Amino acid sequence: MALFKKDKPSTERVVPTHIGIIMDGNGRWAKKRMLPRSAGHVAGSENFKTIARYCNKIGVKYLTVYAFSTENWKRPKDEVDGIMNLLRKYLKDSTNFKAENIKLRFIGELSVLPEDIRELIKQAELDSSEATGLTVYMAVNYGGRDEIVHALKRIAERVKTGEMNVDDITEDTVSANLYADCPDPDFIIRPSGEYRLSNFLTWQSAYAEFWYSDVLWPDFSPKDLDKAIDDFNKRNRRFGGV
Ligand code: FPP
Repeated sequence: MALFKKDKPSTERVVPTHIGIIMDGNGRWAKKRMLPRSAGHVAGSENFKTIARYCNKIGVKYLTVYAFSTENWKRPKDEVDGIMNLLRKYLKDSTNFKAENIKLRFIGELSVLPEDIRELIKQAELDSSEATGLTVYMAVNYGGRDEIVHALKRIAERVKTGEMNVDDITEDTVSANLYADCPDPDFIIRPSGEYRLSNFLTWQSAYAEFWYSDVLWPDFSPKDLDKAIDDFNKRNRRFGGV
């Protein structure tokens, strides 16, 4: 968790340890250009690569991106298929992450994904496991509440088998049973003019700083990210203290 030193020189910028991004606005980006929604997702996935590369360059340790929510299955089949195909394409090209020294991890209820995608995910996670730069957590079929239920079931199972007592359950127990093994996000970014968390990192965002922007995700540039991080640096994070 990035804490700011009071005596920090004004030129010294703190880069958040863990950034979460809700990649919103692909559909509107396409509509503005009279293109099909799928073109917006293509542009959004390209921008994800640009931003991940930039986060790696500036020393962000973890980046969690919301690629597909548990609610997104409600979208038309061709849109869902389009997003799944983008995922396939991204995973097949290991130069996207391996050559960049980026570690790739997936969070969400992955068991319902098409089998070939699950295999590609396994391979990509394995291929990038030695990377020492940025860790990207891609949230697919992810829901924050669903993740908490998943963690509670795991804990309940351990209580049932006598491995732990109910009284020993703490906040740390819940955190340790979530999908990702990393610090909570310091900073959550939602472009496209929406001011909602939309079931993203529900447990982990308790003390996160938020940044909203009207820029649509495919247009959200490294410059926009820099602006957001500059603003993050002005925040006075007290974590419930004074
Ligand atoms: C939200 O915008 C975006 C999504 C539901 C999907 C995001 C998916 C990607 C960026 C591609 C994923 C693939 C890779 C390889 C990262 P929206 O469609 O809700 O936009 P709108 O609110 O303008 O309609």
